[in-house]
Parts: sequence; structure tokens; C-alpha cells
Amino acid sequence: MKMNAYGWMILWVGILSVVMTSLTIRNPRRLHLRSHKPSSFTILSSSSSSSISMASLQDSLAPPGLQYDFYQTSCPDAETIVRSKMAQIHSRHNDASAALLRLFFHDCFVHGCDASVLLDDSHGNQSYSTEKQAVPNKTLRGFDEIDVIKEEVERVCVGVVSCADIISLATRDGIVLAGGPFYPVLTGRRDSIRSYYEEALDEIPSPDDNITRILRLFAVKGFNERETVSLLGAHNIGKMSCEFIQNRLYNFKDTGEPDPTIAPNFLNQMRQKCQGDNSSHSRNGLFESMHSGMSNFQELSSSMSSGAGFDSHYYQSLLMGRGLLFADQQLMAEEKTARLVRAYASDDGSNFRSDFVEVMVKISNLNVLTGSQGGVRLNCSLPLFSSK
Ligand code: HEM
Repeated sequence: MKMNAYGWMILWVGILSVVMTSLTIRNPRRLHLRSHKPSSFTILSSSSSSSISMASLQDSLAPPGLQYDFYQTSCPDAETIVRSKMAQIHSRHNDASAALLRLFFHDCFVHGCDASVLLDDSHGNQSYSTEKQAVPNKTLRGFDEIDVIKEEVERVCVGVVSCADIISLATRDGIVLAGGPFYPVLTGRRDSIRSYYEEALDEIPSPDDNITRILRLFAVKGFNERETVSLLGAHNIGKMSCEFIQNRLYNFKDTGEPDPTIAPNFLNQMRQKCQGDNSSHSRNGLFESMHSGMSNFQELSSSMSSGAGFDSHYYQSLLMGRGLLFADQQLMAEEKTARLVRAYASDDGSNFRSDFVEVMVKISNLNVLTGSQGGVRLNCSLPLFSSK
């Protein structure tokens, strides 16, 4: 198999991460976490797996039709272009990584990673509502970035590389640029031909959801408790608008009072930051204009990162009762998730990063379209048979 330089790098980093993972699980502190490892992760977590190749990783985890370096003959530079474009975007707007990670989650959670969230019309008919218009997606960002990357790829290979693969690769590259771990992304996804408005309303968790509903929504998509808690660690990076905690701070469940579980000193701090003042806390850069008219922004994690974005600070916030969203803090509401939060908070982030890698591989492969399913869009926001 002929591989380009980036291919070799992926192969080596993949092998390295398998070796690192197998080393970490020899660490007794990890054994506590590893004891409930789901079987689909045995390849990455097997202590004897240091010689496992990308090929066997692929065979074990990939849905049929996805493969390592799918575009190696049809568009050999595709992954390099995505990576360098993403690096350019990130150097100008370092909040782009978080925006893409959230966009990717909202895409994969509704009918799989098929780029349906990018569509501006559905069924080739603008009278249908689209996922983008559904309430949980109204504050998504990163659409323009995907378009910029897609245009660059299309310049070299027309109609070959799917938007679904571009989001998956750009998200992974963005995570690495934000200080997060590398994970292998197989390619060969195809784009959906329609958008799923109703499903987006029903299936994407809300910031006010309780732990029962959160676990149920993730279980429906095949994620266990541990995977759910590690996925929410994505909130280690990024920002949120104060609108999502306004009720918690001032009128929790229509009581006219704040959420009684928020510690008084944290409540005061958050109230000072979230007063509906549009001017002083708005984020600068690329996304500012998209948010004009919205209230101010807060870091999603109230604790400070030790440096790299993807450490344990999100979980430390939760331990201290300083989760910003009601849904975040709900991870402490039941022992089965609280014990995972404690475990992830107990080190420099290694436990979390290792699990995050595995769960990102899993979500990247969720219900993908491959082979002759769907298609490859030329413009990510327009379906193949567009009404425009
Ligand atoms: C219970 C589940 C979840 C809920 C209720 C939730 C809710 C939210 C909300 C309300 C925001 C703020 C959006 C804004 O102000 O524009 C946000 C941001 C974010 N979410 Fe989640 N989320 C959940 C799970 C996830 C997962 C699983 C991921 C990724 C794997 C993720 C990644 C992110 C990222 C990276 C941001 C920051 C976006 C930015 O800075 O532009 N979230 N989330």
C-alpha cells in the first residue's frame, strides 16, 4: 500500500497511541477506570496490543466501507489540505476548533456523521425545515470554515471528498491544534441527501436536561455511561453564551430563584459575568459578528486549564460544584457518573484523554453512509439535487 508522508505520520501516531494506552493501563490508577471497558474498545485498551497495526484497528472498529486513507488514489492530498487549511484557520481564530467539535457532535448525533447538519435545504426543497433551523442547532458555528476547507479540496479534486469526511478530519485536526489528543479517522463517508429537523429537536440533549435524560439520549446512540462522561469532556474547550445559564442564575424552573445547588460564591461570580451585558464579554474574532445581539460568553469550564485545553479542568469544575450548564453539573448527580468524574479529575488529564480518543473514534464512525449510499456534495450546504 502506497502512503504519503501524512499517512505514515498517522500510522506512527496511531501505533504510538496504542502503545501509550497499553502502558497507561498497566498503571494501577487506570485499572480502576478500565474495569468496565466496553468490548468494542478492546483493541485500543488491550495491554498486549503494542504491535497492532492501523489495519487491524480498522478491521475491528470500522463500519464496512470506511477505510484508512480512503482517498489515497482518488485525491491523495485531501487529508493534507484539510489539515493545513485547518491550521491556517486555527492560527487566526483559535476558537474554531471548539466550534467544529460541537458542529461535528450535532451532526453525528442525528442520523450519523453524514454532514446533514450543514444543509440549507432538505429533499431538494426549501419548504422543509432543516437541522440547522432546529433550536439545539441555532447557535452552532463553524459552517463557513467547513466551506472554506471544502472549496480548497474541490480545487484539487472535484466531487470526490465528502463533506462528512471533511468535518470528521477537520474536527480531529482542530482538537490536536487545541492541545487535544490525536486519534485516527478512517474515511469514505458519504453525504446525506436530506436534513433531519425533527430528529435534531428530539435527539440532541438540552442544557437543562437531567442526568437520566442525558444518559438515555446517549444510550440510544450506543454510548454507555463512561463514554458519555468522557464525551462531555469536550466542554474542556470552548465557550457558551450566558443565555444557557440565565435561568439557573435567576429563575430556576420558574421559581424566581437561582438553582439551589449552586454554591453562593459561584452564583455571585456567575451573576457578575452574566448580566446580559453585550459589550464587555463578547468573544472576539471570527464568530463575533454571528453573535451580535446575543448575550455575553463564558468559558464552558469554570476552572483554569493547566495549559493544554484537554486536561482534567472541566471535571475539576464539576467536583467543586462549578459546572456551568445544569446538564454539566448533572454528571455529579448520580454515583455512577460522579465516580467517573472523580476518576477523570484525579490526574493531569491522561485518563480522560485516553478515553476521549476512543470515544471520538467511535462517534466518528456512527451510522455513516458509505459505498453507494448518499452522495458527495459539491457545496456542503446544498444537497445533490438542490432547489437553488
Ligand atoms: C448533555 C450533553 C450536552 C449538552 C447539553 C451541551 C450543550 C452545550 C451548550 C448549551 C453549549 C453552548 C453553545 C453556545 O453558547 O453557543 C455547548 C458548547 C459546546 N459543546 Fe456541548 N453539549 C453537550 C455535549 C457535548 C458533546 C458530546 C460535545 C462534543 C463531543 C460537545 C462539544 C461542545 C463544544 C466544543 C462547545 C463549545 C462551542 C464553541 O465554543 O463554539 N458538547 N454545549
